[in-house]
Amino acid sequence: MPRISRKGQQMPESPIRKLVPFAENAYKQGKTVFHLNIGQPDIKTPQIALDAVKIHSLDILAYTRSEGSEKYRQKIAKYYAKNDIHVNHEDIIVTTGGSEALLFAFGTITDAGDEVIIPEPFYANYNGFSTASGVKVVPVISKIEDNFALPPIEEFEKLITPKTKAILICNPGNPTGYLYSKEEIKKLAEIVKKHDLFLIADEVYREFTYDGISHHSILQENGLENHAIIIDSVSKRYSMCGARIGCLVSKNKDVIKTTLKFAQARLSPPTLAQIASEAALDTPQSYFDNVINEYVERRNVLIEELNKIEGVQVANPKGAFYCIVQLPIKNSDAFAKWLLESFDIDGETIMVAPAAGFYSTPGMGLNQIRIAYVLNKESLVKAVNILKEALKIYKD
Ligand SMILES: Cc1ncc(COP(=O)(O)O)c(C=O)c1O
Repeated sequence: MPRISRKGQQMPESPIRKLVPFAENAYKQGKTVFHLNIGQPDIKTPQIALDAVKIHSLDILAYTRSEGSEKYRQKIAKYYAKNDIHVNHEDIIVTTGGSEALLFAFGTITDAGDEVIIPEPFYANYNGFSTASGVKVVPVISKIEDNFALPPIEEFEKLITPKTKAILICNPGNPTGYLYSKEEIKKLAEIVKKHDLFLIADEVYREFTYDGISHHSILQENGLENHAIIIDSVSKRYSMCGARIGCLVSKNKDVIKTTLKFAQARLSPPTLAQIASEAALDTPQSYFDNVINEYVERRNVLIEELNKIEGVQVANPKGAFYCIVQLPIKNSDAFAKWLLESFDIDGETIMVAPAAGFYSTPGMGLNQIRIAYVLNKESLVKAVNILKEALKIYKD
């Protein structure tokens, strides 16, 4: 039998998706499963984007340019300008989701054996993209007790070695909901300039900020032009996860030139989805106002209900739509399976993401889960009640 690569064997399963077969078994038993495991919003995609693919005038569904259609990139640049991020279309490469932008970023700036420092817990697939690129994740621990604030600068500096190529942050954060302050971004900017590193910011949740705090992008920092790489996506912004469109943005010409070679190798991002994404850029502000109000209300209900459960600890998210929840159990992997296999209230149960997969430090997050508040308030209240009742009888 030919052998599978070491890299392939080391590739981690997604904690968000690995329990899907257990959920499918639960459906077969006739159970309703509340999906708190995945960031698939139930919010409607803007009609303007859906209409654009219904009424297009193409007679050949052709490739586009590898860097994405120029018209679309010009319009993205205008969107950034509205967000006080000043780039032009040549600084943008359209990708097949933020996922491909991350893979391209790793491909562009790292070699096998290089290191990337990431505040932990982090978006689980950073582990996968690093493994695929032969890169070592060096975690810097952020703690639930501190609401997952950025660890002190000295903690980063202690971790920098000759192999360090970049610091990667997710802002606002998945899975923590943490929103970095302007001061924190400035501190990171200082470190990367001092040590000549790249700073990659995954800003796919840019619009989702709460409590009147606004987002500060790494590309709003002066002097970071050669260091900053933004990862972006339409998936969550317009509830268009299935479009598979994202982009990589950098003012560093060498980064763009190199990323373009990776983009050429995979030919082109999806054509129809670029049409939908271009149209989505005309989505009125009222859409976002409504969506953000809805997420704030969901967050408030969720956190309030979780705080009522004895032994449960949760940090208050300031952005995105996730939170890490610490539970009075030992192993959330086993707990999450048990919820799907052996527990229900009147035929209803929940699916959660065990948090260990959002860490790279072995043994971390074992008593934590990630919850995505992508369901309506009524379902969230029901889901937290299921969690509460389950914890009363669960034995590790
Ligand atoms: C932080 C973060 N980055 C990137 C992605 C990738 O999203 P997509 O490939 O759908 O753009 C996700 C998806 O959940 C995410 O949460």
